[in-house]
Amino acid sequence: MKKVLVTGGAGFLGSHLCEKLLSQGCEVVCLDNFFTGSENNIAPFLKNPSFKLVRHDICDPFHAEVDEIYNLACPASPIHYQSDPVKTTRTGILGAMNMLSLARDLSAKVLQASTSEVYGDPEVHPQHEGYWGHVNPIGPRSCYDESKRCAETLFFDYHRQFQLPIKVVRIFNTYGPRMHPQDGRVVSNFIVQALRGEPITIYGEGSQTRSFCYVDDLIEGLMLMMASSNLTGPVNLGNPVEFTILDLAKLVIQMTRSSSRLIFKPLPQDDPQQRKPDITLAKKELGWSPKISLEEGLHLTISYFQKLLNLSTS
Ligand SMILES: NC(=O)c1ccc[n+]([C@@H]2O[C@H](COP(=O)([O-])OP(=O)(O)OC[C@H]3O[C@@H](n4cnc5c(N)ncnc54)[C@H](O)[C@@H]3O)[C@@H](O)[C@H]2O)c1
Repeated sequence: MKKVLVTGGAGFLGSHLCEKLLSQGCEVVCLDNFFTGSENNIAPFLKNPSFKLVRHDICDPFHAEVDEIYNLACPASPIHYQSDPVKTTRTGILGAMNMLSLARDLSAKVLQASTSEVYGDPEVHPQHEGYWGHVNPIGPRSCYDESKRCAETLFFDYHRQFQLPIKVVRIFNTYGPRMHPQDGRVVSNFIVQALRGEPITIYGEGSQTRSFCYVDDLIEGLMLMMASSNLTGPVNLGNPVEFTILDLAKLVIQMTRSSSRLIFKPLPQDDPQQRKPDITLAKKELGWSPKISLEEGLHLTISYFQKLLNLSTS
């Protein structure tokens, strides 16, 4: 039985990954400090003898006997990663070093959950892996963007220096059930506001574009990447179908049959204008492309938040 460590396993993506790995017969060690993760996300697995939860901060060294490591521990939403930016940088960099050091001790494969934020506010569209990015190194988003960039550097240096089998995946905007309802990410924000009949907040004019990948597609991509033999990446994983933020807001209002109106607020600093992955490499090397449409994915996510909000108000 393969033994897999998932850091950030109680978070949004991590909990879906743990679930999928368990369903495939793996033993899973889930490491989390519960900064943004929640026990509710992993409650269904706690009685599973193949699942082990470890409360631990990835900034401190960690040891477990495992075959593979997925390094997902890091707050992903601006509200959370900007609340303690020094801690975010420590998590991004020290966390990556601790996982690389563990992988080296064990000769284990290690996958880094990197991000489309390494491209910053891109001047190339869509973004392909060869693009080096356009990132502000001293702004409020830099703690996240630059620590993810530095983590990529560390991964590739461990690979070159110690021949460590690494996998670097650049994740684009992903959404689905178990997103934190208050973390300000656009899909969950719009759904929660629409379900509560509150005004939907659009930053800027809403003409900025994003592409949204449903969580099940993304998890499939992560696992295909881990299973690949010599591919180090970086590989983009995301949905290349592009929507404006205004389109998304209107679709959410329509699908929730909400009476919410739109309100417009100034754009936050360094908010990227466009985001769309070029997934040619993932298609060619992993045979991967997203299958779930935005409408389908929103339907599943809206149902989740409907239940969550009813529970919390009952
Ligand atoms: N969801 C997306 O759209 C997206 C996009 C790009 C990259 N990513 C990356 O994927 C990973 C998971 O993102 P997510 O959306 O599930 O976010 P999330 O905030 O739901 O999950 C992150 C998890 O890491 C844990 N964590 C944070 N700091 C930690 C620390 N110091 N020690 C141990 N655990 C810690 C949190 O408690 C949480 O459970 C992150 O690394 C993120 O940067 C996500």
